[in-house]
Amino acid sequence: MHIQFEASPIDKIAADALAVICFEADEIKSAEAPAVAPPSTPDPEIAAQSGWLAELRATGEFTGKLYELSILHRPEGLAAKRLIVVGGGKRDKFTTVEARRIGGTLVRAMKGKGTRTIALSLDGHDSPDLITAVVEGAALGAWEADKYKSDPKKNEAQIDSFTVALSTDTSGAISEAVRRGEIVAESQNFTRNLVNEPANKLTPGVLAEAAKQMATELGLEYEALDQDAMAKLGMGALLGVAQGSSNPPFLIVIKYRPALATSEDHLALVGKGVTFDTGGISIKPSDGMEKMKYDMAGAAAVLGAMKAIAQLKPAIPVTAYVPTVENMLNGNAQRPGDIVTSLAGKTIEVLNTDAEGRLILADAITYAIRNGATHIVDAATLTGAIGIALGHYNIGAFTNNQPFVDRFLAVSRIAGEKTWQMPMDEEYKDYLKSAFADLPNIGGRYGGSITAAWFLREFADPTPWVHLDIASTAWLDEPKPWLSKGPTGVAVRSFVQLATDWNRS
Ligand code: BES
Ligand code: MN
Ligand code: ZN
Repeated sequence: MHIQFEASPIDKIAADALAVICFEADEIKSAEAPAVAPPSTPDPEIAAQSGWLAELRATGEFTGKLYELSILHRPEGLAAKRLIVVGGGKRDKFTTVEARRIGGTLVRAMKGKGTRTIALSLDGHDSPDLITAVVEGAALGAWEADKYKSDPKKNEAQIDSFTVALSTDTSGAISEAVRRGEIVAESQNFTRNLVNEPANKLTPGVLAEAAKQMATELGLEYEALDQDAMAKLGMGALLGVAQGSSNPPFLIVIKYRPALATSEDHLALVGKGVTFDTGGISIKPSDGMEKMKYDMAGAAAVLGAMKAIAQLKPAIPVTAYVPTVENMLNGNAQRPGDIVTSLAGKTIEVLNTDAEGRLILADAITYAIRNGATHIVDAATLTGAIGIALGHYNIGAFTNNQPFVDRFLAVSRIAGEKTWQMPMDEEYKDYLKSAFADLPNIGGRYGGSITAAWFLREFADPTPWVHLDIASTAWLDEPKPWLSKGPTGVAVRSFVQLATDWNRS
């Protein structure tokens, strides 16, 4: 889908469908009216109150409720073939979150209806942030998890172009805002494409190749440590997980370096890249196991963020560390009770082979610190427990550094990714006791996402670190009007915002 900006009077926009946002009306405000009144009408406000909008409201066909759509064909006085009235909800509650979803809802609703070109008038909503959000929403809404569907109708149903329309380019910052939205959403869709790949198509080696291709195309430095290199370094925690699979592991490292760094800070993004999680010898129940192809969503989010960062060029150096393995079970698989030695030198008793994410992340975090990271954020589909705690609507955030997580929470709010800080009291650490090694890889029955975070913290301390548990937010089981079922690409936007806003917070 091609995305563009057009500055022309609304009646001149020749799209298959032209959309305008109208709010829930206690009374009809003038801002929404003039835009779509036939040009011959002298007073646009009167026209709207007595015309099509008033009629739509009177019949109850359109109330302005958020994401509600009414479609009018061959609207008088407009060049567009259809006029779509989109509900904006309550005018004073309208933010970038609603704007993003409106973009997605529009694109998804018009797919397969003979509409190939869509324009959305944003007169009265022309702040750069709002425009970026709408563009993101449209591009994210257009994405489908249909790569492996061979339906011939697929192409007919596509939307060719999405136009952000303003009667005048008031600020001059509009095309920049559109560009940012496109870059971020395309990167997020890149993440979703990776997550959507089944585990027979996307092994750790294939993930590393995809990362290499992305990095090379965008001029980022790429390197991957293979099994031998990791064995030489002593990454026993990561290698223990990988040893039950015929598909060898990698530690992918991608570097972005700004032309001119404005501080000594060095951000590391670490992503869990388990291309399939059977649970290992502590095998998972078969019901629902197919979803464990998304256990590399953290890795994919980090790679998607690097793709956007390479184009948006923030002032801070950013390095991605992506440990990638397949958690399988063969005659060589890791057993419960095995004790492994991590890169940091701490020994770990593997009480449950299904708690594998923290094992690979531990070595990756140590490696990031040894290579100069001053701040670390990791994203991982780490625990089922985070979904029990927070449901599907918030990323769980954990930290060893309150100011750093405060900054992270602020940027994720701007990026429109709900994130909730979880507790990290010292008491929880007592759940992690091993009789035979420095650490066990699981805590008890309670606070599962917190003990997982505490395990990671043992490797991150004292470097400022934020851990994101995205197990319940990286995959959508039921489609939304603005987003398809499947991978969400969560955490990409927060990562990008963190990097681009680094010096502003
Ligand atoms: N990949 C899973 C976590 C997960 C669960 C992700 C559901 C997405 C959806 C992780 O490796 C895992 O198996 N965690 C265990 C930890 C337990 C053994 C302490 C879990 O959550 O059950
Ligand atoms: Mn697991
Ligand atoms: Zn896992």
